[in-house]
Amino acid sequence: MAAYEYETHEYDVVVVGAGGAGLRATLGMAEQGLRTACVTKVFPTRSHTVAAQGGIAASLSNMGPDHWQWHMYDTVKGSDWLGDTDAMEYLAREAPKAVYELEHYGVPFSRTEEGKIYQRPFGGHTTEFGEGPPVQRTCAAADRTGHAILHTLYGQSLKNNAEFYIEYFAIDLIMSEDGQCQGVVCWKLDDGTMHVFNAKMVVLATGGYGRAYFSATSAHTCTGDGGGMVARAGLPLQDMEFVQFHPTGIYGSGCLITEGARGEGGYLTNSEGERFMERYAPHYKDLAPRDYVSRCMTMEIREGRGVGKNKDHIHLNLSHLPAEALAERLPGISESAKIFAGVDVTKEPIPVLPTVHYNMGGIPTNYWGEVLNPTADNPTAVVPGLMAVGEAGCASVHGANRLGSNSLIDLVVFGRAAAIRAGKVVDPEAPNPVLNKASVDKAFDRFDALRNANGSTPTAELRLEMQKTMQEDAAVFRTAETLAQGVEKMTAIAAKLNDLKVTDRSLVWNSDLMETLELTNLMPNALATIVGAEARKESRGAHAHEDFPERDDENWRVHTVARVEGNSVELSYRPVIVDPLTPEEQGGISLEKIAPKARTF
Ligand code: FUM
Repeated sequence: MAAYEYETHEYDVVVVGAGGAGLRATLGMAEQGLRTACVTKVFPTRSHTVAAQGGIAASLSNMGPDHWQWHMYDTVKGSDWLGDTDAMEYLAREAPKAVYELEHYGVPFSRTEEGKIYQRPFGGHTTEFGEGPPVQRTCAAADRTGHAILHTLYGQSLKNNAEFYIEYFAIDLIMSEDGQCQGVVCWKLDDGTMHVFNAKMVVLATGGYGRAYFSATSAHTCTGDGGGMVARAGLPLQDMEFVQFHPTGIYGSGCLITEGARGEGGYLTNSEGERFMERYAPHYKDLAPRDYVSRCMTMEIREGRGVGKNKDHIHLNLSHLPAEALAERLPGISESAKIFAGVDVTKEPIPVLPTVHYNMGGIPTNYWGEVLNPTADNPTAVVPGLMAVGEAGCASVHGANRLGSNSLIDLVVFGRAAAIRAGKVVDPEAPNPVLNKASVDKAFDRFDALRNANGSTPTAELRLEMQKTMQEDAAVFRTAETLAQGVEKMTAIAAKLNDLKVTDRSLVWNSDLMETLELTNLMPNALATIVGAEARKESRGAHAHEDFPERDDENWRVHTVARVEGNSVELSYRPVIVDPLTPEEQGGISLEKIAPKARTF
């Protein structure tokens, strides 16, 4: 057994991760007087939410008529009927409240002439239950909305006495023999000390796992740490096969160009200068949902109408827009286009390509953020002491495809919901759970084994193998052949975790070891993705299976539940929640209105 000394910290709540969801949860917990710690591997305002550009969806009606019911309908349709209806209703209904709270906390939103929060159009957001024109629903702070939200929430959390443990890496969850989460074991990166956080509630807000792929808009820190910890605790991941490709990553670097660019009037063209989205989506054109636009772009390239020397990407045009509008509404992407593509957006198009952007799947939760461990008898069984929010979680509000700007609202609505729920289930007067020593020791043993790993495969080499395989075999379009090949390759790649070589054995700023721990988190996420995708014999949302091109509601309107152990994955399925929270007679949306139908644009 590895002998590490550690310091123990006791809190009511420990939040792991300080992005939008983690900070909103932290703030909500602290506001209620719960003793709250937020543990984060990066400085809070460097969390990946800082990169969120275009905005946050809420039916404020500042730019024209809108209703939460329309927002809910768009989310249901956007999810390709895989989202849980209760969670989707909660998201759309609570969104305006959550955004006004942000405004009152101090988020510097862009403003209309009358001083209201400015809202722009985004893909898939419509009026009249998908029958009317696009709606301006996405509240924006220029194209730096995530940045604005993150800084405000961090300041407010400090003001409310939340305690931050910055540059602490969470190694593993501490679980009791009977399945209750009791805390988390952490490594302090800058001085090599070890820390055990003991809490009545642990909230995982660790973000997505975009870095399982070779090219992603996600930060290099997006390594699915929560999913990895959950898998090692014997708990499942859900709907991992649904990986979103954002239509406009900069060709080459993968850097994000916000959908807000098309919301402000930008459009895509092929090598013939054709605005091809008019052909595929006559009604919503460039503002069709992301999964659809990404597939259309891929088809244009496949059919020889890509741009550039190798005809392998697409153009995003903004130069027809007034220079002042670009400077006011899209300053960030104008700068990114210059730095990463050498393009002056007022004169030239930006070279773009669909790029991995978001994970619809994650740790299964209910709409209060409580983690689920579904069984055949109880598909919504809750894991005591454990919550997951934001991209790490799967509420499931995005189903098979997320609408743009529904991510920031997911972070704040469900971060807030977790705090509301914790206020009810966490008793500040009660003693903390007695730590299961065996679970703590297990975490240190794993850490020590990796620290001293002396195999023949360097971490960076194995990571690259995983990233290239995922990029190739779990792409925008998938076939039975690529998926079967992907499963075989990824099973072999995951087995090589037992043959890792770590060269730096120190405990202080050991990036080799940290990246190794991250790789052990990425791997179960990646494996569950490819195995879940291979098994799903239909096309739905972001899962476009060329051998099964139709959606099959009779057999596949179910959530995939994946349990990963080592390099093997066991799949089962749980039903989608189809009933809304509010009955039609009380102003809710009718079941008939949200019944599955063909998804056209
Ligand atoms: O395009 C964007 O600004 C990204 C927004 C989102 O993913 O919600």
